Amino acid sequence: MNMAALYSEHLENLLANHRGLMQKNGYDTLLIPSGEPVGIYLDDMDYPFKSSFFFRTYVPLTGLPFSYLIIGLSGKPKLVYYQPADYWHTPPSDPAGYWVEHFDLVVVSEQAQIAEHLPKDDGKLAILGGQNSVTTRFSKSSHNPEKLINEIYWQRAYKSDYEIACIQQANLLAAKAHKAAENAFREKKSEQQIHLAYLESLGVLEHELPYGNIVCLNEHASILHYMDSSSHMPEKHLSFLIDAGATVNGYHADITRTYSHSDGEFADLIQAMDKAQLACIDSIEVGKSYVDLHIETHLRIAQILKDFDLLDMSADSIVEAGLSNVFFPHGLGHFIGLQVHDVGGHFADQTGVIKSPPDAHPFLRLTRIIEAGMAFTIEPGLYFIEMLLRPHKSGSYCNAFNWEKIDRLKPYGGIRIEDNVVVKGNKVVNLTREAFKMND
Ligand code: GLY
Ligand code: MN
Ligand code: MN
Repeated sequence: MNMAALYSEHLENLLANHRGLMQKNGYDTLLIPSGEPVGIYLDDMDYPFKSSFFFRTYVPLTGLPFSYLIIGLSGKPKLVYYQPADYWHTPPSDPAGYWVEHFDLVVVSEQAQIAEHLPKDDGKLAILGGQNSVTTRFSKSSHNPEKLINEIYWQRAYKSDYEIACIQQANLLAAKAHKAAENAFREKKSEQQIHLAYLESLGVLEHELPYGNIVCLNEHASILHYMDSSSHMPEKHLSFLIDAGATVNGYHADITRTYSHSDGEFADLIQAMDKAQLACIDSIEVGKSYVDLHIETHLRIAQILKDFDLLDMSADSIVEAGLSNVFFPHGLGHFIGLQVHDVGGHFADQTGVIKSPPDAHPFLRLTRIIEAGMAFTIEPGLYFIEMLLRPHKSGSYCNAFNWEKIDRLKPYGGIRIEDNVVVKGNKVVNLTREAFKMND
């Protein structure tokens, strides 16, 4: 894979698209700040810094604060690259890589030098991203103009070959680290030890992850975003759920796997969920609504609840009564890219009209029609969550629940299986399954 050639093509198309949108909306310049670190209140330390996703659309610079992109209607984009002289911290390295030749670079070592390289506010300037002490000097109307932003968000759903290659590489790295984590689970390590095995395999520090690792032993798997990675050694290793990713050039992978330590009914349940997840991916088609995929997944999970004698009702009635939501209380997935939850998932069109998820499924992050170029996750789950089960212990459906079996499975927490897929033309490519196979 020639990343330099893919990037060059990506940038050329991106510039053409954004310049078209600038002209359509009456702008002649874009100013895109990378962002500034956020300081801890009344302290002399900052939270870990991540460059804004607008900035990373153009350059693979994930940790470069106080820098600015300036994009006109023609010519090379300009990058004001802040490289302070600093002996307290490691300053950013010299600009290097396949992206450099595509920019007019201005390296500055003092923040006071930045302003002289920025454009004039002629009423045709749009500033995209978080505002700061530099951008507040420009007129308010230039900050994140909604019409332009909506069109950019809409387009962000269609990934270039370069972007897909980055997500693919992130999946390869994450799959390898997932295998290291699974081995640590099989060796009966603590959550914290498993988490550290993941980081070591990936070769990153915690703050370089795309999101905080979700590493759950046993009943912790019923907490959807459990991020405590406890050092406590549980009495038994029953089950293991890990939701963890990786980042390449600012693009993310977001992968979940669930394992059982021994054979038995929970292992069988994982296998059934794995089959359902793959069947869902098999049913993806260009032109189909992601909402339909989500609803069909509820039916698949309802069938599993029936087949495993957890609920004594037909799959249709389980969904109709809203009982599949008790076990699967989150959305099927979301766009993925420069953000773990990429923008524009609820857009009905490029003007930003919102297509909300159905009332019964408020947490669904993606309601768009599936099209070529889209990259998204498919992550069905089945959990035993006390807070959601409790109201049904006395409700009208209380006798349909097999409480004895549910109580037996509760210590296993739950199951989530999450892959990243991309639609290439008419073909659906499962980047995550491919990555696990390549790491075998
Ligand atoms: N890791 C967060 C998510 O799956 O959306
Ligand atoms: Mn996800
Ligand atoms: Mn995830």
